[in-house]
Amino acid sequence: MDYANRTTTPSTWLPLRLGRAIWRQGARTPRCPDTPRLDGKLAVVTGGNAGIGLEISRGLAKRGAEVIIAARGASTAAEACDQIARETGSSIRYLPLDLSNLDSVVTATENLLALVRDRAVDILVANAGIWPQDYAASAQGHEIAFAVNILGHHVLVRRLLDRGLLRDGRVVILTGDIYIRARECTSDFAYQGSRGGGLAYSRSKLGSLWFAGELQRRHPALQVYVVHPGVVASGLGGGASSGFGAFMRRTMLIDAKAGAQTPLWCATQPNLVRGAYYHNTMGRIELPQQDPAADAQKASTLWARLEELSTPFV
Ligand SMILES: NC(=O)c1ccc[n+]([C@@H]2O[C@H](COP(=O)([O-])OP(=O)(O)OC[C@H]3O[C@@H](n4cnc5c(N)ncnc54)[C@H](OP(=O)(O)O)[C@@H]3O)[C@@H](O)[C@H]2O)c1
Repeated sequence: MDYANRTTTPSTWLPLRLGRAIWRQGARTPRCPDTPRLDGKLAVVTGGNAGIGLEISRGLAKRGAEVIIAARGASTAAEACDQIARETGSSIRYLPLDLSNLDSVVTATENLLALVRDRAVDILVANAGIWPQDYAASAQGHEIAFAVNILGHHVLVRRLLDRGLLRDGRVVILTGDIYIRARECTSDFAYQGSRGGGLAYSRSKLGSLWFAGELQRRHPALQVYVVHPGVVASGLGGGASSGFGAFMRRTMLIDAKAGAQTPLWCATQPNLVRGAYYHNTMGRIELPQQDPAADAQKASTLWARLEELSTPFV
């Protein structure tokens, strides 16, 4: 079936939901068309130096966009910029950004302003994300998956909006369908060990869906899309080089280039539904009422909390 017209109302039962996401995902993942061209467009990709984000940066540059990679790793970012510029001929630059420290988000937006002058960002891909292996807190003392995956991006988006750097552009937000494990998303989740880290990740990805919905509702001029890219062999959660994890990577997972296709689709293609959730194998998701992502009250509560935590940094 044509990906553009595919819609699904998925189960909220975890095994069925994840099974359906992963079954033959290589064959069911779309390939984003090479057109329209993006010449003259400015794109910012958080975490654009590695994994899925690197392939999103490459895909945008290949279509002619000027790309800014915002991430922590200066050496991987420099390597990515060199390689992509050589391959595509597009302008590609690095913006230092540590989403786990809101002071760094403030500095990064000021540096971006200086870099682009009065140009607005046409495409912002909120891609950077972590799956913690154990409990850690951010510079401001918040649980780290919440801090990086949501709060840091919230401050980034709010500052770009307030400074006129984001007007009517596209905002593509990466979630993970594993959010279906979670029911809450708060800054103070406490846990020990990797199982807790997995739940912290799932909670943050539920929060990403709530954040995206609220952002679209409150800023209707934007085109906001939230995306599950696929279950991808990347550095997320430290990757896996041996045992069952390595077997899964070889047999069930798609590579980062394939994982970039649905985010690229949302960043470039016409006729998408604003505020919608796009999934690599299921197309546009129509959330059943009992889906935790459909809880408008909790989405609004999360937004209010994000605003509260952001106040000194916006
Ligand atoms: N892999 C999957 O199966 C899968 C499934 C569903 C959704 N996703 C989502 O896809 C997105 C990309 O994940 P991936 O699989 O490509 O992971 P990855 O290979 O681990 O890449 C993560 C990226 O995030 C950046 N990052 C991490 N911490 C950061 C921080 N504090 N500040 C700024 N940037 C930071 C990293 O760069 P630096 O370390 O240099 O900062 C890196 O570029 C994530 O949002 C993830 O949740 C992935």
